[in-house]
Amino acid sequence: MAHTPIPHCIGFIMDGNRRWALAQGQDRLAGHVAGFETFKNVVRWVRDAGIAHAVFYAFSTENWKRSEEEVTTLLALFEQALREQYTQTEADLADRSELGVRVRFIGQRHDFAPALQQLMSDLEERSNQYTGTTIWIALSYGGRAELVAAINTAIERGKPVDEATFRSLLWSAALPDVDLLIRTSGEQRISNFLPWQLSYSELIFTPTYWPAFTKEAFDRMLEEYAARERRRGL
Ligand code: IPE
Ligand code: IPE
Ligand code: MG
Repeated sequence: MAHTPIPHCIGFIMDGNRRWALAQGQDRLAGHVAGFETFKNVVRWVRDAGIAHAVFYAFSTENWKRSEEEVTTLLALFEQALREQYTQTEADLADRSELGVRVRFIGQRHDFAPALQQLMSDLEERSNQYTGTTIWIALSYGGRAELVAAINTAIERGKPVDEATFRSLLWSAALPDVDLLIRTSGEQRISNFLPWQLSYSELIFTPTYWPAFTKEAFDRMLEEYAARERRRGL
């Protein structure tokens, strides 16, 4: 079966922030700040490669179990990131090329403070003007929680579902199947990310920690993806 050279939808498990910081002799939490810079770069690379959808695992339902200090640091970083984007003027947009993409959030939004939820919906609304690339950010996202929520909705509706209807009940309903998933940090697991959309994904694992992920590595991965034969059972 012919493969599409460029993935239509690419996923990233952005892992290894704390180990990267420790390896640099920095405070572990400084790794999240560095990881945010990588995220902004990757958004630009994805957009410039003409990829239509990119989904980033930023915070899992299980990550709430980390220390209060770490969760507070991460929440402050999300808020700063959202405000940075929200207060941009059209002139800023010209230099700050990380924007210019449509943004969507997936996960349990109600876990966040109302002010943060408002920033998320404002950014979604404001970024609707961009049509090239859609960036999906998984925040307080857990694949099992998502499946259970969809099943409960199906039960409330009282009708059996087929695959298409079930998919439409997911938080990530509008997210296409992930063609290529990249996980940094050397771990070779999925960690509760997108069970539905990852069913037939090509997987690439790299030992590089997320803050050290480079454009060269990204380009090589796109080449590797293009060379893979996707059979999907055929
Ligand atoms: C990924 O890096 C970011 C989040 C999960 C929020 P980690 O914080 O998991 O860093 P490591 O994997 O412990 O190095
Ligand atoms: C997965 O990384 C979640 C995110 C990248 C947001 P974790 O560091 O939480 O995953 P495990 O604990 O290694 O499975
Ligand atoms: Mg990790």
